[in-house]
Amino acid sequence: MAVKVTLIPGDGIGPEVSRAMVRVVDAVTGGTIEWEEQLAGSSAVDAGHSPLPAATVQSIRQNRVGIKGPLLTPIGGGWRSVNVSIRQALDLYASLRPVASLPGPSKSRYEDVDLVVVRENTEGLYSGREHETVPGVVEALKIVTRDASERIVRYAFEYARANGRAKVTVSHKESIMPLSDGLFLDAARAVAKDYPFTAVEYVGLDNLMMELALDPHQFDTIVLGNLDGDLVSDLCAGLVGGLGLVPGANIGEKFAVFEAVHGTAPDIAGQGIANPIALILSAELMLLHVGERDAAQRLRAAVEQLLMDGSVLTGDLGGTATTEQLTEALLEAL
Ligand code: NAI
Repeated sequence: MAVKVTLIPGDGIGPEVSRAMVRVVDAVTGGTIEWEEQLAGSSAVDAGHSPLPAATVQSIRQNRVGIKGPLLTPIGGGWRSVNVSIRQALDLYASLRPVASLPGPSKSRYEDVDLVVVRENTEGLYSGREHETVPGVVEALKIVTRDASERIVRYAFEYARANGRAKVTVSHKESIMPLSDGLFLDAARAVAKDYPFTAVEYVGLDNLMMELALDPHQFDTIVLGNLDGDLVSDLCAGLVGGLGLVPGANIGEKFAVFEAVHGTAPDIAGQGIANPIALILSAELMLLHVGERDAAQRLRAAVEQLLMDGSVLTGDLGGTATTEQLTEALLEAL
C-alpha cells in the first residue's frame, strides 16, 4: 500500500542529499512511498512564500509523516527559526537522535557506541522569545513547564523500555538555574518512579559532556532540555564519525518529521560532495515509523556494506566520492 510522505528538500546541501535519499528509498521500497514535495526555509522565500508556507504544514498534517533536508532561516526578515516553527506548529515535542557506531573506516575515536539522545523540542531557551529591554540589553526567555518536562522524560523512559535500553540519564544545570532546570529535574524524578525497572541517573550538563568525551559507552538513553540536547547531539555525532552519519526524528503524538542532525553546510553546498548517509539513515527511521521494517533493514544493511567496503566514501569520511557516486554505490549494494 502506498504511503504518502511530505518531502521538504531544504536549503544548502538539502536538495543534494534529499535527491540521494529519495533514490535509495524508492529502490528499497519498490516505489511504495509517494512523495509530496513542499517548500520551507530560504528556498520558500526565494519562491515568494513565507519561510514556512501554510501548505507545507498542512501537507504534514494530512500525511502525518514528513522528511526534510536542513533549512536556512533567512536573516533580516524578522522570521523565527523555521525548524522551531515546524516543531511548535505540529507539537513535535521529542527530538530523537540515535547515535551508533557504524562499521568501516570512519574518523570516529570510539567503537561500539550505541546511545540515544532525547531532546525536548518545543520550549527551553529555544522558545523564540527574545527582546531588547533597553538599547544594549537583550533578554532571551527560557520557558520550562512541568507538562513538557514530564512528557519528554516519559517519552525517554518509554523509548528505553520499548527498545531494550537499561538506563536513562537525565541531564540538567540545576546548580545555576534552580528554578527552570530544577523544575525539569523535579518532573524527571516524578516520572522515573513509574519505571522501577529502568535505571536512572541525574548528571550535570558540564559533567555529562566531559564523561561523554572520556567514555561514551557508559551512556544509554540521555534526556535533556532543548538547547542542551542540541549541543549534546552534535557532540555525540562527533563520537561516531561526524554529522554526515547521524540521523534524527522529531516526534509528536500525531505527526513525525525525520531529518539529519546536520545543517545546510554552506561551505560545501552546491558542490555535489555532501554525505547523504545521515538523511538516508533518517529515512530508515521513517520507514520503521511507517511499518516498512524489511525495507528499513535492507537500507541499513546497504549503508553498512558501503561503509565496510570503504572504497566509495565522501570527503567528510576521508574519501573522494561525490554524493552521486556514493548514491550509485548504495543502489548497487541494494
Ligand atoms: P552544519 O551542520 O551545516 O555544518 C557543520 C560542518 O559539518 C561543516 O563543515 C559542514 O560542511 C559539515 N557537514 C554537515 N553536514 C554534512 C554532510 N552531510 N556531509 C558532509 N559534511 C557535512 O552546521 P552550521 O555550519 O553550524 O550551520 C549551517 C546552517 O545550517 C545554519 O544556517 C544553521 O542554522 C542551519 N542548521 C539547520 C539545521 C536543520 O535544518 N535541522 C540543523 C543545524 C543547522
